[in-house]
Amino acid sequence: MRILIILGSPRTTGFSAELAKLAQARATALGAEVKTVTLAQRAIRDCLGCFSCLRTGACPLDDDMPGLLAEMTAADGFVVVAGVRNEDVCALYKRFYERITYTLGFPLLLEDKHTLALSSVGFMGGKGASRRLLGLQDVCHTRLSGHLHFTTGIPTRPADARITARVDAAVARLVRDIERRAGRGPVGALSFATDRFIMRRFVFGRHPDVYAAVIRSWRQKGYM
Ligand SMILES: Cc1cc2nc3c(=O)[nH]c(=O)nc-3n(C[C@H](O)[C@H](O)[C@H](O)COP(=O)(O)O)c2cc1C
Repeated sequence: MRILIILGSPRTTGFSAELAKLAQARATALGAEVKTVTLAQRAIRDCLGCFSCLRTGACPLDDDMPGLLAEMTAADGFVVVAGVRNEDVCALYKRFYERITYTLGFPLLLEDKHTLALSSVGFMGGKGASRRLLGLQDVCHTRLSGHLHFTTGIPTRPADARITARVDAAVARLVRDIERRAGRGPVGALSFATDRFIMRRFVFGRHPDVYAAVIRSWRQKGYM
């Protein structure tokens, strides 16, 4: 079982980094093959919105994203970690997320993978955005195994035994969900099917040339 830990905070020695280390240790102890990717150490350019990936399946920008996309498609599950900034996910993670939206999300290349989202905030805000974006929920449709949202204070308190225990339990649940290939539950399955119907009926069908690569992927999956 391959678990990819994605550290999205630009503060590479901060609270998120501490959570990533805890997750790495726990997942490794449970027998997973674990790798941590630090987004701050990768070259990630802004998505220019040319939409050519929808048609061709590839992005014309020259940076470290192709390697990251390959690492993500090879993984069985993710632990995605980042702190809240201005009641939202931090800009570095958002930049990365925009780059996977149409390359991995629309073609549904992550739909069978499981995700644990770990976020933190100084005092308040950003919980919903963290769950949706770190959980790779909206366009990527991964199976959300869990979301932990910690309040750290400013200055940041170090992770204590209670936090370690909660991260340990959440990582164990992620490993179990991957092993069991846990489904998304009736509500999740219905919402995913509705999304697919809307996209198929009202978006792809109207512009098949624009969405050629996405349609190819959906056909391979039997969704079209
Ligand atoms: C630019 C910036 C904006 C922030 N915005 C918020 C905020 O809106 N609400 C809040 O409670 N904490 C905010 N914080 C505090 C962080 O959410 C908190 O320190 C978090 O643990 C950071 O995780 P990190 O150590 O991984 O970077 C902000 C921190 C920074 C640097």
